Amino acid sequence: MSVIKAALVESFDQPPRFRSLPSPEAGPGQEVVDVLAVGVHPATRGIAAGKHYTSPKTLPAPAGADAVVRRPDGRLAYVMVMGAGTLAERIVIDPAAAIPVPDGADAAILAATMNPALSSWIALRTRVPFQAGQSVLVHGATGNAGSMAVKVARHLGAGRVVAAGRNRSRLDVLEAGGADAVVQLTPDEDATATALAEAAAEVDVVLDYVWGPPTELAMRAVLGARTRHTRLLDWVQIGGMGGDAVTLSGHALRSNAFRVLGSGFGSVATDVMRREFTDLVAAIAQGAMAVRPRPFPLADVEKAWAHEDAPGERTVILL
Ligand SMILES: NC(=O)c1ccc[n+]([C@@H]2O[C@H](COP(=O)([O-])OP(=O)(O)OC[C@H]3O[C@@H](n4cnc5c(N)ncnc54)[C@H](OP(=O)(O)O)[C@@H]3O)[C@@H](O)[C@H]2O)c1
Repeated sequence: MSVIKAALVESFDQPPRFRSLPSPEAGPGQEVVDVLAVGVHPATRGIAAGKHYTSPKTLPAPAGADAVVRRPDGRLAYVMVMGAGTLAERIVIDPAAAIPVPDGADAAILAATMNPALSSWIALRTRVPFQAGQSVLVHGATGNAGSMAVKVARHLGAGRVVAAGRNRSRLDVLEAGGADAVVQLTPDEDATATALAEAAAEVDVVLDYVWGPPTELAMRAVLGARTRHTRLLDWVQIGGMGGDAVTLSGHALRSNAFRVLGSGFGSVATDVMRREFTDLVAAIAQGAMAVRPRPFPLADVEKAWAHEDAPGERTVILL
């Protein structure tokens, strides 16, 4: 029996372990692909910790939520399987879910960048009626997904992009790299609210990676300062770094053309997602946006899990 190396979640309390597995075999309509690079994203960690809505129901299970793979005909592809797992030398995929990757694309950069970048790409292209020239507030812009959101909004034609986050030096990088205004989120709630109101009162879309109490404050600040109440404001929940719940004021919903919606794996049809991923892979391959990969070999999966990414980098396991 031929075997492959893999990283298996054996317990939701422990990092995945480097193990051997029987080599997978393709069923009808499936194909076996070689895995080249797997990003270790917040969702990847959440799935492996049993905290994500796609976490496996039974263990052991392969870790990894997405991958850059080489198909049997030699072509590269990107796959996102969430809880089904990708951290193995070879995996079985549905060929219909393989997103084509242009020849010569860097697998590690793609694995590092796709997940953070797709969050804002999918939100702006499919969840809201975003048009070139509109203005966007990225709430929680200093992480990888938030930083990519600034670039993606600009790439998709935003007229004005406001970046709000805690880390001053990352905000400076974002300002130098394309944000029109930055707002520092500090423990001083009054100062934060005033700065948000000044910079973002008239935005069309908020891409929110924070949620929780900081979002309650931001909603009050933006809506309270808005002068054109019937101008549509779409507030898109994408990440939950500040908490999973907010108290939403009925007054806020009635007194403004204000919509709250989410964007994620479960909220966009598969065929739409596939189309958008194809365009995004092409944009990343052309160098429109990149997160710096921090590579680890598969054998060091436990070290990879323990590694805390520096701002602007993403752990990537290379196979
Ligand atoms: N729905 C989707 O399609 C989708 C796709 C990708 C990612 N996401 C989600 O987006 C979120 C961010 O992902 P990521 O890849 O950017 O992770 P990341 O690179 O680890 O960045 C997370 C950042 O969040 C910031 N943060 C944490 N707590 C905060 C708070 N209370 N207020 C403001 N900022 C806070 C931190 O920046 P500072 O320390 O600089 O403040 C941190 O760097 C995660 O929840 C992830 O699951 C969603």
